[in-house]
Amino acid sequence: MPADTNTTRSTGLHVGEIQPGVAKVDPILVADNITRSFGGLKAVDVDHVEIPRHAITALIGPNGAGKTTFFNLLTGFDKPDTGTWSFDGKAISGVPAFKTSRMGQVRTFQLTKALAMLSVLENMKLGAKAQKGENFFTAMLPWLWRKQDDEIEQKALKLLERFKLDTKQDDFAASLSGGQRKLLEMARALMSDPTLVMLDEPMAGVNPALTQSLLDHILGLKADGMTVLFVEHDMHMVRHISDWVIVMAEGRIVAEGPPDDVMKNSAVIDAYLGSHMDTDLGVVTGRIETVTAPKREKK
Ligand SMILES: Nc1ncnc2c1ncn2[C@@H]1O[C@H](COP(=O)(O)OP(=O)(O)OP(=O)(O)O)[C@@H](O)[C@H]1O
Ligand SMILES: [Mg+2]
Repeated sequence: MPADTNTTRSTGLHVGEIQPGVAKVDPILVADNITRSFGGLKAVDVDHVEIPRHAITALIGPNGAGKTTFFNLLTGFDKPDTGTWSFDGKAISGVPAFKTSRMGQVRTFQLTKALAMLSVLENMKLGAKAQKGENFFTAMLPWLWRKQDDEIEQKALKLLERFKLDTKQDDFAASLSGGQRKLLEMARALMSDPTLVMLDEPMAGVNPALTQSLLDHILGLKADGMTVLFVEHDMHMVRHISDWVIVMAEGRIVAEGPPDDVMKNSAVIDAYLGSHMDTDLGVVTGRIETVTAPKREKK
């Protein structure tokens, strides 16, 4: 990782006046007119949104705002009622999840989906791109896939080391703590060499002692050239690591912008941030000064 990466916040990501749906200079993901209803409830109703490439974007909003549903739609885990979207310039509306991940768009889940009765290492190997042994004909020719299997294992071990899970490689995923499972999911997502990594609440359930390393991992993804889109309720984390923030409420995008601007937006504070803003996490990434946000005046 380049030495100064942690201190570099990307700026100049948008084009023109900042407003919900504002165009980006170099978008990796562009979505239009995405709606998804459950019964009478419109969970997602996004007119237009662009996610900037090579940046870390936070998607925030109250419980039930539609963040996870929006993730599910964009990654092909759910189908919208209307809408089109493209990833890296290619239309991927309706493309199922296993294909979008091969194209370089991976995601992790709010509730982790590690396979409990497989080992940590086996979970990692499942994250690799199309494997030769999976094809019926090549499966019968072991010399074709053994070498690839070795390479995949080496890559998995390297990633496990990076996420400090290497000592757990032979343990069942079921034996990991909630936080370790989150790390395993992130590590597994990297097995397919993604260009866009989408993380749904990466900090939820993670032991505070792991917070700093998790922040560093996410900054590391950007340093390695990836784009990150993450959902998070922890405003300190959002403030420390994101280059851009998008606010969702009741299915819609209600605000977006650089983190400090969005968090000063009174509508956002009233709708969502409220008292979360009064203290700082104390985690220093070196990216921004650790300051205490001013208390809101009581009305
Ligand atoms: N499969 C489903 N069936 C019915 N309703 C659903 C389903 N999935 C989500 N919803 C509803 O859609 C709305 C948006 O939910 P979603 O999980 O996307 O919110 P969220 O922003 O991720 O919230 P949180 O911050 O709590 O994770 C909620 O009202 C939720 O109850
Ligand atoms: Mg959610």
